Amino acid sequence: MIGEDEILLIPGPTTLSSRVRQAMARPQQSHVSQEFYNSFKESLELARYVFGNSTGLQFIFSGSGTIGMESSVVSLLEPGDKVLVVETGYFGHRFSMLAEIHGCKVESLVTELGRKVDPKIVDEKLKQGGYKALLFTHVDTSNSVMNDIVALSRVAKENGVLSICDSVSGLGGAPLIFDSLGADVVITGSQKAIAGPPGATLIALSKHAFEIMESRKTPIQSYYMNLMRWKPVMEDPKIYLTTPSVQVILGLREALLQIKEEGIENRWKRHEKFAEAIRVGLESIGLLPVPDRESRSPTVTAFYAPERRASEIQEKLRTEFGIHISKGFGEYRDSMLRIGHFGNISASEVLALLGSLEIVVRGSRVEAQVYGKAVETALPILRS
Ligand SMILES: Cc1ncc(COP(=O)(O)O)c(C=O)c1O
Repeated sequence: MIGEDEILLIPGPTTLSSRVRQAMARPQQSHVSQEFYNSFKESLELARYVFGNSTGLQFIFSGSGTIGMESSVVSLLEPGDKVLVVETGYFGHRFSMLAEIHGCKVESLVTELGRKVDPKIVDEKLKQGGYKALLFTHVDTSNSVMNDIVALSRVAKENGVLSICDSVSGLGGAPLIFDSLGADVVITGSQKAIAGPPGATLIALSKHAFEIMESRKTPIQSYYMNLMRWKPVMEDPKIYLTTPSVQVILGLREALLQIKEEGIENRWKRHEKFAEAIRVGLESIGLLPVPDRESRSPTVTAFYAPERRASEIQEKLRTEFGIHISKGFGEYRDSMLRIGHFGNISASEVLALLGSLEIVVRGSRVEAQVYGKAVETALPILRS
């Protein structure tokens, strides 16, 4: 069990505020009570605020981020549809797999490790014609590469194809205004930069995407993941489709309320400041972020583990300092480490991470008095 004084800096789920935890610890409510109905309604309104979605449809339902991705794919795309999928990492590849499973003809555009996709290349591809949708990841948590969501949404729109964006690791920490993007679908999960508990997906869907869904030639091949079925429930949460995860929604509502209280723009600024402090702190002690400068994210940072010591560094950070970070995915298990710096992270946690990481990485090879470089480098940014 993670202790109260330990620091969870994995790329999701993230630390829950005491307000969120208390909201979830109330006695069980009926899912059809007026009290829960009000909370659900309020969560949907707050989600609209966090997405910047006043023009489209807003969904929240139980499941993880993947449910949101698969619901979008199965509801909007039909077997035989040709789609372009940007693969900036593991989660981009997941989009390709989902589209393939649901019968789409998938063309994947795989980027070099650490590089976001060039929107011009996407534009050239889409200009070849025949595509129904562009699927891409906003922040790929597997390597912390952030794609240019504004440019990619625009390119999709200009080419008359649907844009479906996985912002599971972006929304709530990285700038994103659904209304001005002109995007068709943006998906997130409750447990990352929103800082709610795991267990809900949140989706913003444009009116255009809804019309496409309405005019499908074939039925949607899912009961639970059918967005057409969820639409009336979102308009009136008293309608029963499935039992909502009451506690998750109550926790999520509180997390969304905290975002509103902070102000979404202030939150984006705080995330960027902390991310920059972490990056310069890492670089000051010779740790290299995986993404190139143009592809970095304000929510997650992956960096190369010196001498493939990812396991050892992760373990020492945890046992000596009570700080939890993650290793890389698959083939990068030994060579990469990943920090989730989203949600309610504080400046003191950033400093604790950098100070501890420096001690662990440098080990006994330097004199004690030279420790502190990462903290010293990051401090002016945190104070700016
Ligand atoms: C970018 C991204 N997309 C999708 C997912 C899948 O979300 P979930 O694990 O909540 O299903 C994750 C989870 O880490 C993610 O980081």
